[in-house]
Amino acid sequence: MHPPMEKLTCPIDLDALDASTCSPEAAVNLPPACYSDEEFYRFELESVFFRQWLCVGRTEQIPEPGDYFTTTVAGGEPLIVVRDREGAVRVMSSICRHRGMCVTAPAELPKDKWFDDIPETSGNTRNFRCPYHWWVYDLDGHLMAAPEMERRSGGFDRAEWGLPNLRVELWNGFIFCNFDPDASPLGPTLGKLTRLLMNYHLGEMVTTQPEVVKDLPFNWKIMAENFMEAYHSKRLHGNRYDIDPKTEESKKETLIGGSPTMYEPGDGAIAGAGRTAYKDRGLNPTQHALFPPIVTLSDEERWHMIYAFVPPTLLLGVSTDSAFWFLVEPTSVSTHTLSMAFVFPPETHKLKLFDDLFQNHISGVELFNKQDMPSNHAVQVGMSSRFAPRGPLSWQDEFLTQFNSWLADCYRRAAG
Ligand code: FES
Repeated sequence: MHPPMEKLTCPIDLDALDASTCSPEAAVNLPPACYSDEEFYRFELESVFFRQWLCVGRTEQIPEPGDYFTTTVAGGEPLIVVRDREGAVRVMSSICRHRGMCVTAPAELPKDKWFDDIPETSGNTRNFRCPYHWWVYDLDGHLMAAPEMERRSGGFDRAEWGLPNLRVELWNGFIFCNFDPDASPLGPTLGKLTRLLMNYHLGEMVTTQPEVVKDLPFNWKIMAENFMEAYHSKRLHGNRYDIDPKTEESKKETLIGGSPTMYEPGDGAIAGAGRTAYKDRGLNPTQHALFPPIVTLSDEERWHMIYAFVPPTLLLGVSTDSAFWFLVEPTSVSTHTLSMAFVFPPETHKLKLFDDLFQNHISGVELFNKQDMPSNHAVQVGMSSRFAPRGPLSWQDEFLTQFNSWLADCYRRAAG
């Protein structure tokens, strides 16, 4: 059912990436074409997004058999994420095997919406019936019924015409899928991050409804770089951070002073834990956590924030009362869609003032977005300029060289 993974031709010189994967003190940016060239974008979709593990959401979004939601990944590929009758999480294509309609698309739309993006849906269902000619697929994707197909010469075997299922892995409550049937498992590559997050019990947390922002006007890598690199934090966000001014030592140890991130070739995640200027720091405007700290954290962990990236799609920020998770979906070489949500321990969701506190909690992220989003857009403009630099990095840009190494490995494997 899956097309074979073929060797690809990379439109840029892969040897040129060596200058971006060495130590940050010696490294330079990726070639600007990696952010602005259409042909490179198509290569990247195939070499990265259709061969690596992609996070698509959280298991508690589909707690019961029949619960599902739809999503797109990697340039708009439509998928269904569903819990089947046996309770297993499945991710499958939503493209009907008859004539290619999206089986979760509506049967009818008002005129002003005829040609909009196919709306995402969610809910509980017994099966998926394509609205066009009523082929019916079960929760595991197999074809249950197909009207008027009995006269096919040579017969019609429904077993051959199910919805393609993708590989699925669950990690800490997050659902990952992979288009490559031969991909190596994800779990063994996340050992360091799993240990780092062990006391947070992310798998038991409960998510808020993701907010989706479509077609942000910059390449998906610029989003990930901005989320993870520490060099810009106390410059671009200098007026947002309340750094403890008392000791040089506390400044040096804060995440915003430049925290090293963990990554070795073969790892499936890049992550860093930074000591904060005070205990139980929050991202909201008060800079102090608004919710009770996670009860299983050590005293030392309550002085830290963790930023992690499970490339290419999951960005994760973890503090002492909660975590936030972003999903990155490229939609063109210069645009991507971003989904944003927060996870909290179940008991935190039950607080009487949860909704009010949550509004203040998320307003802190908005404070940073006010600076990050226009800056990211401006970087995209720069990467498309005839003067686009392949500039030198700072030692505080260490994340970039680690991400570049991960990318270069994907590109090289795809190009054989
Ligand atoms: Fe789906 Fe015909 S396209 S049933």
